[in-house]
Amino acid sequence: MKTIWVKASQSYPIWIERGLLAQCGHLLRQTAAGAEKAAVITDDTVNSLYGDTVVHALEESGYTVYRFVFPHGESSKCSATLNDIYNFLCEHQMTRTDCLVALGGGVVGDITGFAAATYLRGMAYLQIPTTLLAQVDSSVGGKTAIDLPGGKNLVGAFKQPIAVLCDPDTLQTLPEVFLADGMGEVIKYGMIRDAALFEKLEQYTLDTIQNGIEDIIATCIDIKRDVVEHDEFDTGERMILNFGHTLGHAIESYYHYETYTHGSAVAAGMCIMTQRTSTPEVYERLCRCVHAYHLPTQTEASIHELVPLCGNDKKRASKALRFIVCETIGKAEIRSMPFDAFASWMEGGQA
Ligand code: NAD
Ligand code: GLY
Repeated sequence: MKTIWVKASQSYPIWIERGLLAQCGHLLRQTAAGAEKAAVITDDTVNSLYGDTVVHALEESGYTVYRFVFPHGESSKCSATLNDIYNFLCEHQMTRTDCLVALGGGVVGDITGFAAATYLRGMAYLQIPTTLLAQVDSSVGGKTAIDLPGGKNLVGAFKQPIAVLCDPDTLQTLPEVFLADGMGEVIKYGMIRDAALFEKLEQYTLDTIQNGIEDIIATCIDIKRDVVEHDEFDTGERMILNFGHTLGHAIESYYHYETYTHGSAVAAGMCIMTQRTSTPEVYERLCRCVHAYHLPTQTEASIHELVPLCGNDKKRASKALRFIVCETIGKAEIRSMPFDAFASWMEGGQA
């Protein structure tokens, strides 16, 4: 079993191995020895695939286990579901020494983490991510949130989990569209930090990537660990994780979050940016790689239509827009420009 320690305001292990799900009980005992109850929070799809395995493993290790299941999908990451989770925890008299278990993708991880950050002013939670995106990104680093009608992730908290249990076998049931979605973030890690990872990704396609996925997940997690350790609360360097996201968010928003998955919007966002900042060779390598994972390099929407929506990115500084560029593969840089200059540069003017 590979273990990566994150040394943030709270240090915690990330365990990575195929088949780990069935060991979650005794692994949780290593970090939450005093807990008597565990509340597994999951969605209906993941519950039908892995709920019983996790509940039984926890029960075998002596936990009294309760299970809360909500409908899958982003629309469940809302205050109504959160309220239902609070009431469920209250009904089962969960205490501050008990533990929540987030079993699922980023939606489950984000809302469970936020419940853990706020219920009883904070309690422990274990992340068991089951999508590629959640394994390489959302389960690590302690960002938790719910959405509001006015926007995604508008209410949240930093709350590190007590451990992350990553079982790459769960990806075998993941629909191809979500595997591709996660690959958008994996390619991003290669671009911002690791040319060797990028070269490895060039050797696989979406059809073959499962063969090498365990090492690739570990590499991505280690990159995120390093970034989070330097800037846990997202005031500087952590922003490099947003490569492709400034335009990616604009693309998602332009299409009302319906046409493009997050990872595919980020992939197109990385390509559109790289076309403007890098050599044709870097741009072509990125596009080839993105294509190999069935992700888009462009959108039907023109840059003229997308740029105004970049202004809606909540990470924009008050007068200037900050965004990430990778002139070369493996190296990211934060740039800042007045919004109008950014708009004219994106539309073909001088930087
Ligand atoms: P998701 O949680 O909605 O999962 C995608 C779909 O896959 C769901 O329908 C789910 O039921 C299904 N699923 C999950 N695991 C499965 C499996 N092993 N087999 C079959 N089906 C499975 O979406 P996601 O892409 O994992 O996460 C997206 C969310 O993550 C967004 O809300 C986003 O804001 C958030 N996010 C958070 C962070 C962070 O740092 N906290 C980072 C990136 C994204
Ligand atoms: N997913 C971006 C971050 O964790 O900061």
